[in-house]
Amino acid sequence: MLWCIVKSAMRFQFIQSLNGKYTSGNIAKSVILLSFPLFLIIFNFSIIKFSNQSSPKVYDRSLNLTTITKIKPCNIFSGEWVPYSKEPYYNNETCPLIIGQQNCMKFGRLDKVFLKWRWKPYECEIPLFDANLFLKIVKGKSMAFVGDSVGRNQMNSLLCLLNQVAHAEDISKRYTNNTTNIWRWFYADYNFTLVTLWSPFLVRANDSDLNGHSNKSLMNLYLDNVDEAWASEIENFDFVIISAGQWFFRPLIFYENDQIAGCHKCEQKSIKDFSHYYGYKKAFRTTLRAIINLKGYKGVTFLRTFSPAHFENGEWNKGGNCERKKPFTKEEIKFDGYILDTYMTQVNEFIEAEKKARKRGLKFLMINTTEIMLRRPDGHPNNYVYGYSKNKNVTNNDCVHWCLPGPIDTWNEFLLYMLKMETY
Ligand SMILES: *[C@@H]1O[C@H](CO)[C@@H](O)[C@H](O)[C@H]1NC(C)=O
Ligand SMILES: *[C@@H]1O[C@H](CO)[C@@H](O)[C@H](O)[C@H]1NC(C)=O
Ligand SMILES: *[C@@H]1O[C@H](CO)[C@@H](O)[C@H](O)[C@H]1NC(C)=O
Ligand SMILES: *[C@@H]1O[C@H](CO)[C@@H](O)[C@H](O)[C@H]1NC(C)=O
Ligand SMILES: *[C@@H]1O[C@H](CO)[C@@H](O)[C@H](O)[C@H]1NC(C)=O
Ligand SMILES: *[C@@H]1O[C@H](CO)[C@@H](O)[C@H](O)[C@H]1NC(C)=O
Ligand SMILES: *[C@@H]1O[C@H](CO)[C@@H](O)[C@H](O)[C@H]1NC(C)=O
Ligand SMILES: *[C@@H]1O[C@H](CO)[C@@H](O)[C@H](O)[C@H]1NC(C)=O
Ligand SMILES: *[C@@H]1O[C@H](CO)[C@@H](O)[C@H](O)[C@H]1NC(C)=O
Repeated sequence: MLWCIVKSAMRFQFIQSLNGKYTSGNIAKSVILLSFPLFLIIFNFSIIKFSNQSSPKVYDRSLNLTTITKIKPCNIFSGEWVPYSKEPYYNNETCPLIIGQQNCMKFGRLDKVFLKWRWKPYECEIPLFDANLFLKIVKGKSMAFVGDSVGRNQMNSLLCLLNQVAHAEDISKRYTNNTTNIWRWFYADYNFTLVTLWSPFLVRANDSDLNGHSNKSLMNLYLDNVDEAWASEIENFDFVIISAGQWFFRPLIFYENDQIAGCHKCEQKSIKDFSHYYGYKKAFRTTLRAIINLKGYKGVTFLRTFSPAHFENGEWNKGGNCERKKPFTKEEIKFDGYILDTYMTQVNEFIEAEKKARKRGLKFLMINTTEIMLRRPDGHPNNYVYGYSKNKNVTNNDCVHWCLPGPIDTWNEFLLYMLKMETY
């Protein structure tokens, strides 16, 4: 069944050209050329530069960020990747739940050095993922991953991490006849429910049918309307992990108050063109407000920050790849440019929302993974994914999602660390 899901999952392509900003200078900088989500229906649209737009600076650079990194006793997000000699938590033999899109070993990835690193915070050690402890914390509770396929990637990692000690039953079909994007798992021994709620924009979106334009790749984004696909579901959830990213780079028409407020790369003379930050900022604002206003919601909300892509040697659809075998050092890669700005855009919204959430007695926490993953160009499937390696001429490399096992398992180490701090 999972195979069908992979095959039928949506796919679109995205192009971002950055005006030489990332193409000159050291090698590392030239790596982060572009990013896109990999799904299976191809929408073609032309290459559009957005770097000539005036610099967005939609966030306040003077913010004191330490106020939202409240994870005591140490800041687990500040640290480095250090060599680690032990085997990963699981592999393609011990975890039967890895989907083709993420099963790098099965599809021919031979180098294993990328599995030999652990995240080491400067101030402390982050414990190994303890599946029994995790299940003890979530016993009788429910957890939802809300977002796109990268969010689902983290849930898939969690499934494998827990698979070591507990059986998960796929109960998706009890809730929907269309299981393309809605997955539900139930751990009967722990009465724990784990779901992913598909909502790549978090706000309401649909196809925009502007005649003859961009082969229908254009989408409408209703920036002041939350996507009911998750909003109507999460009220009774105990833990909600929100994320969004690559989809915002595509051509979009922004609606506010039921009117067109502008667009991103829509190429319509009559519509004002904004950077992707415009939609990203408002989508997070609407989303976080909606959570705060959900009457019965008492859960802990996590924002997992933007996950960067790593294409090198070309654009994503022109042979671009990610063939590095080990992490970047801090000297090799700088946290700047559009990755920093995209990250800061959501952090800014998060900081504002967290204050309001706190007043309403809600816990908002940030899983601050952007810079950490920026240093992992070696963690993506590249061409070692289902369907791709067999069709290199017609498909593109995946430098957006993360191999399982792989560095994304660290996100669940963070999640457990934070759950522990919040619940004990
Ligand atoms: C930021 O906030 C933290 C915690 O409230 C405080 O200790 C620190 O001094 C502040 N830093 C700056 C530069 O204001
Ligand atoms: C997130 O972590 C990075 C290091 O990985 C750090 O530079 C940044 O300041 C952190 N942000 C917050 C809000 O703590
Ligand atoms: C796991 O991957 C190896 C290659 O690393 C492959 O030979 C094997 O068939 C795979 N096993 C499963 C169950 O996919
Ligand atoms: C299972 O957990 C749900 C909440 O997720 C709770 O409502 C229900 O009573 C629990 N069932 C049992 C048998 O403990
Ligand atoms: C699935 O489809 C069947 C037949 O159309 C319908 O009876 C059933 O209620 C649907 N189930 C769900 C969960 O929507
Ligand atoms: C199932 O949902 C996906 C996206 O959520 C959609 O693309 C697809 O058309 C749906 N399939 C059916 C049979 O409704
Ligand atoms: C998208 O949603 C809007 C508002 O509900 C609707 O007017 C429009 O027809 C929808 N577009 C398509 C292609 O269905
Ligand atoms: C749709 O895509 C095809 C192939 O890329 C291209 O030749 C055609 O011009 C596009 N049509 C429009 C209306 O953009
Ligand atoms: C891809 O390559 C195969 C074998 O080289 C060839 O038969 C096929 O026509 C190619 N497809 C495209 C779309 O170029």
